[in-house]
Amino acid sequence: MLIPNMNYSHMKDSYLFYNIAQKVKAYSAAHPDEHIYRLGIGDVSLPLCDAVINGLHKAADDQADPATFNGYMPECGAPFLRKAVADHYRSRGVQLTDEEVFISSGASDELGDVLDLFDRVNRSLIIEPAYPAYVDANVMGGREIVHLPSSKENGFLPLPDDSISAELIYLCSPNNPTGAVFSKEQLKKWVDFANARGSVILFDAAYEAFIEDDTLPRSIFEIEGARTCAIEICSLSKTAGFTGTRLGYTVIPAELERCGMNLNAMWVRNRTTKTNGVSYIIQRAACEVFTSEGQAQIHANIEIYKNNARTIMQALDKLGIWYTGGKNAPYIWLKCPNGMGSWEFFDFLLNEVQVVGTPGEGFGKCGEGYFRFSTFGSPEDTRIAAEMIAKRLAEI
Ligand code: MLT
Repeated sequence: MLIPNMNYSHMKDSYLFYNIAQKVKAYSAAHPDEHIYRLGIGDVSLPLCDAVINGLHKAADDQADPATFNGYMPECGAPFLRKAVADHYRSRGVQLTDEEVFISSGASDELGDVLDLFDRVNRSLIIEPAYPAYVDANVMGGREIVHLPSSKENGFLPLPDDSISAELIYLCSPNNPTGAVFSKEQLKKWVDFANARGSVILFDAAYEAFIEDDTLPRSIFEIEGARTCAIEICSLSKTAGFTGTRLGYTVIPAELERCGMNLNAMWVRNRTTKTNGVSYIIQRAACEVFTSEGQAQIHANIEIYKNNARTIMQALDKLGIWYTGGKNAPYIWLKCPNGMGSWEFFDFLLNEVQVVGTPGEGFGKCGEGYFRFSTFGSPEDTRIAAEMIAKRLAEI
């Protein structure tokens, strides 16, 4: 008899953002004339920048000419893009080789796929509230999860201590959903902890481009000792508006070894078997993100999202609502007003002002009573949503 992966029976019925989308769909069906203000899932609203669009057009033309046409791409990434990413790190003082960079179709895919490197007996430490895909990917794979709740009291940035025991450690900084960012000193504590115990840190750096405080680390490889205990997973989704275009990259240092096995070499073995690489057209266009023109253009877009953050933060300040994030991260994490539960506040905002956010409880139990706004909405929608939230909440 065929036995399916029974781990699925331990998962929530549906994924958080799918759940929310279904609720919003039902609301829209019942209120077809109402405009919905989407500050929920962190999906970008601005189009790709000109440098990337020109790169896409040029790469499409390359595929029309036998002299420049590309068939299968190298599984670990096109050398030109691996070099562009590595140069970007090197320009910020992080030394790594091109071969330590692997091109992927995005961080969310990679965060699950990379678990192939680790035996199922390993336990995964997940700091909560957390991006729900960490939990789901580990449950699907039948791994034990060690939940580490964080709170307002520790700034949603818990540090390791002797009570923690896990072989894999997920760190996300700037954090989704809380927007909290580890300092170099705090990250160093996690790096030392992982090295001392032989654990591996899976560092999700998807939001690094939003850091504006230059003292904060954008990469775990800015921390001494990280090359022997960390894998960094990054993405152009939020940095350059690639949520629908898809491209990410993963850094696995050459020194990263456990039980005599080299994780970089293992990942080469994995990729050469399990993928035929990312499309030439997308990789060529992604290269444009790392040019000086591309960097200027993506940062102009990020500045627009940061303005959205300021608009929302001003509304919350006026209402006296506690929040964190928004400054070095594209998410604002707030305490639900009037003691409301997080799904209660979700329903309130949707029904009263047609604003969609994300209930904190969806990111783990300790997120109950909190709520997340994404700042990736259109500036116009964000402005109107903030005004309506401020007006309606002032009445209750
Ligand atoms: C989020 O809203 O948490 C993210 O957009 C989800 C993702 O990146 O997949």
